[in-house]
Amino acid sequence: MTVRRGALIGCGFFARNHMHGWAEVEGAEIVAVCDRDTAKAERMRADFGVPHAYGDAEEMLRTEKLDFVDVVTTSPFHKQLVELAARHGVAAICQKPFADTYADAEAMVRACEAAGVPLAVHENFRWQRPFVELGERIAAGRIGKPVYARISFRHAFDYYANQPYLTEVERLSLMDIGLHLYDLARYLVGEVETLACRTQRINPIVRGEDSFTSLLGHVGGATSVVECSAFAKYDPDPFPETTAVVEGTEGTLELLRGYRLIEHHAGSSFETNVDVEVPAWGAKPWQVVQRSVAAFNRHFVDVLNGKAEAQPSGAHNLGTMALALASYDSAASGSVIRMSEWRETGHG
Ligand SMILES: NC(=O)c1ccc[n+]([C@@H]2O[C@H](COP(=O)([O-])OP(=O)(O)OC[C@H]3O[C@@H](n4cnc5c(N)ncnc54)[C@H](O)[C@@H]3O)[C@@H](O)[C@H]2O)c1
Repeated sequence: MTVRRGALIGCGFFARNHMHGWAEVEGAEIVAVCDRDTAKAERMRADFGVPHAYGDAEEMLRTEKLDFVDVVTTSPFHKQLVELAARHGVAAICQKPFADTYADAEAMVRACEAAGVPLAVHENFRWQRPFVELGERIAAGRIGKPVYARISFRHAFDYYANQPYLTEVERLSLMDIGLHLYDLARYLVGEVETLACRTQRINPIVRGEDSFTSLLGHVGGATSVVECSAFAKYDPDPFPETTAVVEGTEGTLELLRGYRLIEHHAGSSFETNVDVEVPAWGAKPWQVVQRSVAAFNRHFVDVLNGKAEAQPSGAHNLGTMALALASYDSAASGSVIRMSEWRETGHG
């Protein structure tokens, strides 16, 4: 088997999940890690037995013979790093948010297309077991044609402790969790024609919005509600669970807290536990997230080997970016946005 040679760029909080994920995947090996904070790069190299650590991505790309890079920095650095990979003819995975602006995201897609290299966005929510299961059941026609969905991520877990930069950003929940939820809405129900969004800033410690509620009109007539709050008090706190319901013409799929997936039909229902085992390297309550990272990485090896199209690709993620960015316009103006008419208006 060909073993694909990869390098990870950005050795911060979430990158450790990526590294553990890569260690589980056959057919790929991380041969170098990079962080402009060289102490972090060196720690990651030592912890995961990686041959080389770098402080400069350009130098790493010049020195190493790579098949792909896995970009796990925060978004302000994504464009420069993905374009660097493209210049070296190397495939790229880019963490979300893919970019801060639509124009940057488009430029990244163009650069990789021109270089003829695959570009995937690390959208791991659709790779979480509950959503893989939901997607497969919908694709198999078990609930007929989806007509309504609700996708919900509500908690008050202090996730700013691990990601302190989130308290400073002007655009918070839509660009952080919203992108994941919109990707799920497109994956489960299809493309979006219209969008109306309200945002709220509830927790005084954050600068941006920490809650949003969106109403989506999908091509073909389905409606979905996509909602997120990082300041919703529940006991026990449900972080990091996403709940969902998808109603179709023949049945309903209901994903409840506790990873309970219930399939309803007229007069009958059955329940499946869609939780996953905690990986040896992981910890509750992160297990579904941690397994999804490994699943995404495994999928990317198939992409490199020409066996799959990236799910999602950079090009596909442009539509998700448009939804998140258009949500700010809708929230500011109080209007419904027709996505075919939406254009970015110079932010960033
Ligand atoms: N998909 C998910 O479930 C999930 C969860 C958490 C975070 N994330 C995303 O992962 C990304 C990273 O988040 P994090 O919390 O790990 O951030 P972090 O700040 O902890 O780590 C980012 C690292 O990148 C390094 N870096 C920045 N620019 C660089 C450059 N040009 N070259 C080399 N290294 C550079 C920084 O020094 C830092 O160590 C963010 O985009 C975030 O939104 C995704």
